Amino acid sequence: MDRDDVNQLSAGQFPHHSGPPLVRVNRLNHYFGEGEARNQVLTDNNLEVMPGEIVIMTGPSGSGKTTLLTLIGALRSVQEGGLDVLGRDLTKLSPPELVEVRRDIGFIFQAHNLFSSLSAYQNVCMSLQQHAWDPSALKARAEEVLTMLDLGHRIHYKPASLSGGQKQRVAIARALANRPKLILADEPTAALDEKSGRRVVELFQKLVREDGASIFIVTHDNRILDVADRIVNMVGGKIISNILVEESVALCLFLSKCEAFSSLRPAMLTKVAEQMRKEVFQPGANIIRQGEAGDRFYLIRRGLVDVIVDEGKPGEFRKILKEGDFFGEKALLTGEPRSATVRAREPVEAYTLDKAGFNESIAASDSFKQQIYKAYFQRQ
Ligand code: CMP
Repeated sequence: MDRDDVNQLSAGQFPHHSGPPLVRVNRLNHYFGEGEARNQVLTDNNLEVMPGEIVIMTGPSGSGKTTLLTLIGALRSVQEGGLDVLGRDLTKLSPPELVEVRRDIGFIFQAHNLFSSLSAYQNVCMSLQQHAWDPSALKARAEEVLTMLDLGHRIHYKPASLSGGQKQRVAIARALANRPKLILADEPTAALDEKSGRRVVELFQKLVREDGASIFIVTHDNRILDVADRIVNMVGGKIISNILVEESVALCLFLSKCEAFSSLRPAMLTKVAEQMRKEVFQPGANIIRQGEAGDRFYLIRRGLVDVIVDEGKPGEFRKILKEGDFFGEKALLTGEPRSATVRAREPVEAYTLDKAGFNESIAASDSFKQQIYKAYFQRQ
């Protein structure tokens, strides 16, 4: 996909997501500071979030993700460009009207801002009181949402008696209680252990399925990438990729489980995944022939291959590689011909990177580079 096209992808390609976008970001710029100190933090961003969509935004810290999130949340004023949220043009709203928009959004921020003198239950009730809930329904809903987040036994505890993860879950309960149509979350699972993090994203999925809500999550947590319908990557204030995931999430998840790729951060993982192609080989097929020039790196997704050095000669060497192993790195690193023949033992599915993608990945990640060189030296 061409870099310039990525922002043009329409979320309407999802058959299960209908209706106009809940968020429409159009050529959005944003600046901090004034005069000579003016610094552009967002540059020409375009994005649509459809009803029922879970969008995960990744990117290095300082890349502008949180600024974009707070603009969408009507917590900052738009300076340049268009921004429609929940059917309202934020550029045309007065401050009191912006407050109304904010009320319809569920916010989950890193600093949870709970009222310390109120119990978990009272904190959630208080957020519901801003909306027209009938008192008994309100109490039942507060209890229900806290229980869904595994806080049923802690509902009368005050924040000081709760762990960091529990406080975060109260904040999440508070944001979800009113069944908002749009939820904006900044690192919602960062303080949670794996089980609680999973519970939270499952709850997000439930909301999406049952209420058609949209969720926009800024995160570094690659354990939750699999729930995304769309992964947006922001670098230096600009959205540089915006991809529908089905295939790519599966690939990211797979990459994160392979030793060589496991330490890559989500943004990098997404970038590498975007450059990979899937190739399929029949049993007996020569994927690589010893002595030929090399232009590709292979990562085995499924199946076994034989690596054969000097086939048929005295001193022939054989080794079997399996799912998660990679090959074809030597010729790319040294520029020399392929040092072995690699043959499919059974049907093999591999993800491949061309030379440019391989070099880019090596240049961008020291840990990836180290893993590749480690294998390279071990195979000498
Ligand atoms: P390359 O030389 O580009 O092409 C053949 C590939 O086979 C090589 O990169 C390695 O990835 C792999 N290979 C070569 N020798 C060994 C070995 N001794 N053990 C495992 N893999 C090897």
